[in-house]
Amino acid sequence: MRDHCAKAKKFVQKTRKTALFTQKSERMKRPHVIVNCAMSADGKIALPTRKQLKISCEEDMERVYKLRNECDAVLVGVDTVLSDDPKLTVKEKYVKKLHQPIRIVLDTHCKTPKNALVVNGTAKTMIITGKKCNKKFGDNVEVIQCETDKNGFINLNKLLELLYKRGTKTLMVEGGSTVVWSFLKQKLVDDLYVYVGPMIVGGKKTPTLADGDGIKGIDDLISLKIIDVNRLGSGMVIHYRMIQ
Ligand SMILES: NC(=O)c1ccc[n+]([C@@H]2O[C@H](COP(=O)([O-])OP(=O)(O)OC[C@H]3O[C@@H](n4cnc5c(N)ncnc54)[C@H](OP(=O)(O)O)[C@@H]3O)[C@@H](O)[C@H]2O)c1
Repeated sequence: MRDHCAKAKKFVQKTRKTALFTQKSERMKRPHVIVNCAMSADGKIALPTRKQLKISCEEDMERVYKLRNECDAVLVGVDTVLSDDPKLTVKEKYVKKLHQPIRIVLDTHCKTPKNALVVNGTAKTMIITGKKCNKKFGDNVEVIQCETDKNGFINLNKLLELLYKRGTKTLMVEGGSTVVWSFLKQKLVDDLYVYVGPMIVGGKKTPTLADGDGIKGIDDLISLKIIDVNRLGSGMVIHYRMIQ
């Protein structure tokens, strides 16, 4: 157990150095963006039905909670809210000093259910919509209207600008595959952490780490550099950095 804690801590210490690399963030006038994802050995991130699949082992969960605790905000797409109903909070038992990041949902048409766990009031939440939304959520929930892009999605550059102005220096993007694709495609990712679990899921339509439309040709390849590879529990964590 002690060994697990030390390993998870090591990952976060490395990340902290990265995450607090605010000079770059200040230069770019946007938060430092960290994508975190758990996938099977064949790159799938859920069941073929798109229902949630537990891929992370306990040690990886600890790493994820510690990483969330270090970030100012965590972000998911509305389809992850609809399929997994995540809380996106930090579990106290995993961290020394609890810090709940702001929870952000990309939700152009304001489909987040009023009873979703992400809007349960235990931490601040921002629902980012593309049009005016009159839905009333409970305490601690802010609905923010943002420009949309040519695909009708939330314009990520505008959103990052807005978050940066509001004090978000580090943003953790936790999925799902459409959102991760959008961030990667637009080269808005600084660090990518992938936990690879020891299982195969299969299925042509099963969500993968990055879906979306995919690249058009070889010139559009999104290139990454491997920074670190480590065994963790029953799987391994790969830390990539994006080559801009
Ligand atoms: N293993 C893991 O680490 C992990 C983590 C999270 C999720 N998941 C899995 O991922 C799956 C969900 O992924 P998904 O691809 O279906 O959905 P998603 O990425 O969670 O959400 C996509 C939706 O977000 C909204 N959106 C708004 N602005 C966007 C933008 N700029 N770019 C992209 N999307 C934007 C769009 O809906 P509107 O047009 O309605 O706004 C879009 O359809 C589930 O199966 C879940 O279990 C796995």
